[in-house]
Amino acid sequence: MDSIPTVVILLSLLFAAVEVTGDSGGDGRAIELMSTVAEQREFDYFALAVQWPPTYCSKSTKCCAQSGCCRGANSPSEFTIHGLWPDYNDGSWPSCCSGPAFDETEISTLLDVLDKYWPTLSCSKSSTCHNSKGLFWAHEWEKHGTCSSSVTGDEYNYFITTLNLFFKYNVTEVLFEAGYVPSNSEKYPSGGITSAIENAFHTTPQLICLNGALEEVRLCFTKDFKFRDCVADSDCPDYVSLPEFASLATRRTIHIVNLDPAAENFDYPVAMDIRELISLDDVMEELGLGPNGGLLYCMEHLEENLDEWLTEELENYMEDDYLVFDCPGQIELFSHVPVLKNFVEHLQRKNFNVCAVYLLDSQFITDVTKFISGCMASLSAMVQLELPHVNILSKMDLVARKRDIEDYLNPEPQTLLSELNQRMGPQFQKLNKALIELVDQYSMVSFVPLDLRKESSIQYVLSQIDNCIQYGEDADVKIKDFDEGEDQD
Ligand SMILES: *[C@@H]1O[C@H](CO)[C@@H](O)[C@H](O)[C@H]1NC(C)=O
Repeated sequence: MDSIPTVVILLSLLFAAVEVTGDSGGDGRAIELMSTVAEQREFDYFALAVQWPPTYCSKSTKCCAQSGCCRGANSPSEFTIHGLWPDYNDGSWPSCCSGPAFDETEISTLLDVLDKYWPTLSCSKSSTCHNSKGLFWAHEWEKHGTCSSSVTGDEYNYFITTLNLFFKYNVTEVLFEAGYVPSNSEKYPSGGITSAIENAFHTTPQLICLNGALEEVRLCFTKDFKFRDCVADSDCPDYVSLPEFASLATRRTIHIVNLDPAAENFDYPVAMDIRELISLDDVMEELGLGPNGGLLYCMEHLEENLDEWLTEELENYMEDDYLVFDCPGQIELFSHVPVLKNFVEHLQRKNFNVCAVYLLDSQFITDVTKFISGCMASLSAMVQLELPHVNILSKMDLVARKRDIEDYLNPEPQTLLSELNQRMGPQFQKLNKALIELVDQYSMVSFVPLDLRKESSIQYVLSQIDNCIQYGEDADVKIKDFDEGEDQD
């Protein structure tokens, strides 16, 4: 593909597409109604609930900045706090007692610690008592903390009390030392896990499971923080797993589609391949075309066969499957001919959410003029395809001087203009200004760096694409809202 003389920049365009159902679920969410009862009966005991993030996170495919499930290599590697809950001996519990609404400034000194040990593991906002939705911490304070204020005091004291208990009784340490270490293949006896905690703390915990995996451990305390037994029973099967963190990418079903008729080698399985329809070599040989003309011929052939070939192939995929279409990099396909535009429209008619992901090779960006020409190529793809669009500076791992490139990740239009003016003769000043304005007005001047060596970088790129494509939003709604209100969460 590098042999095409008119291609100055090695660019390649990926579409990420995900099929969505016709009805998006919209706002038919179950709304949890919470009454604020001024006086509720004084509670009997506390439960400290700690959760195992890999199990919890397996529920959701959606990623966002706030979620502890999306921190890549920095994802939590130990149990994190779910909450400290006041309970009644009859198995019920008070909630949303009278008390001040959550105020983040009260716990501003604790935020770093809370982020680490008490992260939210969801992208949806939690229901709170006074406003309808808010932070996970707001939910825990308003729903539970207000009801234990006779013991745990105000908001700050509720959080600090919970943190102290969590630090004092390290469930992760107890389980790891007893040999219950994260594994995607082992199963452990629930009884063994319970015994390990009994040996360490002389109390019987309540274990909560999700699909055969340990999700939560609850420790119960008297109101003066001595251990006592929990009221409810464990709901785990005899053998449970303690899964390792799976990266988001491995929790979804991804299919790669090759749309480059000249491609030869793949390091990954290809689910659909344009070469099953037509190959560049055959076209060049039989029609006596050069590589560039041959490519255009192949793509036009694809266009003519969209209905037959693509429709049939797409039937193999299900709702929530994630398809990546790897397109040839030749700029003509995004500037001259409508084939990819028609391709995209075809996908959209089949109810796929489609997003264009434009990859610009960061090694190519050695100065401002090259950066601008990269932007213009991306812009022509944007204008042609009329799709939500993510720009990526790829191969950051191969760049020797990262500082030079970082200036281009989110540059100031004015800085770009003055650099451009410095590099080019005075007769170009007007053109330069027009170019920068164009690039700026299309909000193009923003690139996401991709460094393949860093899991966090990959996760970040993935989350940008997910936002663009609204991937997982429906899934998250389905999972969260049905649970709410049934559990003491
Ligand atoms: C709990 O123990 C684990 C394993 O020994 C350790 O990595 C972790 O930092 C401890 N957590 C806290 C909050 O002390």
